[in-house]
Amino acid sequence: MSIPDGAGSVPARKIPFHRPSLGNAERDAVLEVLESRWLTTGQKTVDFEEAVRARIGCGHAVAVNSATAALHLILEALGVRAGDEVVVPTYTFASCGETVRYLNARPRLADVDAVTFNATAATIEAQLRPETKAIMVVHFAGLMADMEPILELARSRNLPVIEDAAHALPSSREGRQAGTVGTAGALSFYATKTVTTGEGGMIVTDTAQIADRARSMRLHGLTRDAWKRYSGGGSWYYEIEDVGFKYNLTDLAAAIGLVQLERAESTRLERERVARRYEQAFAASSIADLVELPLMPRPNEVHAWHLFPIRLRLDRIKITRAETIDRLAGAGIGTSVHFIPLHLHPYYRRMYGYAPDDLPVANLQFEREISLPIYPDLTDGEVDYVVERLEGILRPL
Ligand SMILES: Cc1ncc(COP(=O)(O)O)c(C=O)c1O
Repeated sequence: MSIPDGAGSVPARKIPFHRPSLGNAERDAVLEVLESRWLTTGQKTVDFEEAVRARIGCGHAVAVNSATAALHLILEALGVRAGDEVVVPTYTFASCGETVRYLNARPRLADVDAVTFNATAATIEAQLRPETKAIMVVHFAGLMADMEPILELARSRNLPVIEDAAHALPSSREGRQAGTVGTAGALSFYATKTVTTGEGGMIVTDTAQIADRARSMRLHGLTRDAWKRYSGGGSWYYEIEDVGFKYNLTDLAAAIGLVQLERAESTRLERERVARRYEQAFAASSIADLVELPLMPRPNEVHAWHLFPIRLRLDRIKITRAETIDRLAGAGIGTSVHFIPLHLHPYYRRMYGYAPDDLPVANLQFEREISLPIYPDLTDGEVDYVVERLEGILRPL
């Protein structure tokens, strides 16, 4: 049944866009690190790297303080530099393009599939140039991109593939985990992510040369075990091998990550429950024809459900996307928009002369997208409330 949205009145409920899923185990893990007196990169970080490596099944895992840092270090290790181009999906966050720019290379933006929001072999191929040095893929919302045709294309041009798996832990297709399918992957442990350390990231790869380079460059380009220099087993001696960065993860963060990783599958199942509840609630509502829901995973896919992106059928409703978001906020419901495509931002328009219609699919999806709340402790009742409110907004009585 449709509930009129109470614009202007005090909302009946407060449903934030995001609530991290944290418990006593995380608190105890942080206290243990505080009591150990070793706060920065140390044994907990090494343990977290090993836990992630074993969990997703790859040769090497290198912890850093964000996925942005991970993308930067992967591109750097691949030798991307001025004059090179990297194909980057336009439907993504700032990090994907900016890390290419850190190295003075050019992000060449690719359009995406209208259903999954992921880049495809065809949209990537359209952006390949003689200068292309690498291909970046984003597993949007936690549903993996169709990697086989992309890998085939990359192999035919001898190009490495970087997986931005910031939304995709745990995600898999045919049993292959996101981040382990291409040349190297970047994970994010940002506050809203499915596995969080507050801020954090990790490089995952089977290529020892990428892992070794990243281990040194994440800590000022020092010799690889320089982080041990204040520990009993460490040495005061280090050498600066190159001009690196300050991207190392702290043990405080890693301790939280270890707990979160252990719960990754049970929290993913809770997110999946929320997604299925949205699916049922929309199907039973009077607005099923006004809203397009995200693709449900096929039997061979595991979806991380970092986001629940719906799209409004703007041709069938009278209200705008912005008004819908405002009215949901008025009803106490937090939402977001993923993403404002890179090619629409002033920097990319100014630097490369992009116009909205250059990448039309991304543009059209962005204009009608709203990300609804999805997290493990969102109750079925709260999901129903979100859908009922949306009913009142999109199809008022
Ligand atoms: C697709 C994508 N890539 C990369 C990032 C960057 O992650 P981090 O905040 O860990 O640098 C984000 C962050 O939201 C993201 O959504």
